[in-house]
Amino acid sequence: MTLKLNVNGSEYVVESHPSTPLLYVLRNELGLNGAKYGCGLGQCGACTVQIDSRAVFSCLTPIVSLEGRRIRTIEGLGTTSSPSVLQTAFEVEQAAQCGYCIAGMIMRAQVLLDRNALPTEAELRKHMQPNLCRCGTHMRIIRAVRRALNMPPAFGDRERAP
Ligand code: FES
Repeated sequence: MTLKLNVNGSEYVVESHPSTPLLYVLRNELGLNGAKYGCGLGQCGACTVQIDSRAVFSCLTPIVSLEGRRIRTIEGLGTTSSPSVLQTAFEVEQAAQCGYCIAGMIMRAQVLLDRNALPTEAELRKHMQPNLCRCGTHMRIIRAVRRALNMPPAFGDRERAP
């Protein structure tokens, strides 16, 4: 059985079993390695991608549920020479340490950007809460998202880059 998936605006015909989690198909069949395997249990967010307008754990999402849906991964946002707003903000704020969680963080934050959201600080933190950074760079990550959303600096942002 084959399924058609729309990933980053392109149509792909995939051969994997319909119950295969999207993460495995992205990485193993389509060669899109931005989304990472962290826990496989929906507890870390390293695998986060966008499906339509929602941030989704791709490790828990079987591909059978995805025909006709728009899937977006970090590869669909920007490039090294032409990074997206969020990618630029993460770079400016030096928000990555090991970097393993960053693609998932950016894809979760992209949902807010796409909505033209003007979240409060509390709403921003709640939105980003499902994604974990084991290096502990959460403060920088939040600062990068705040920058991308044009939110005012928060207490503790004294060293904010221009
Ligand atoms: Fe999907 Fe951890 S790998 S939530």
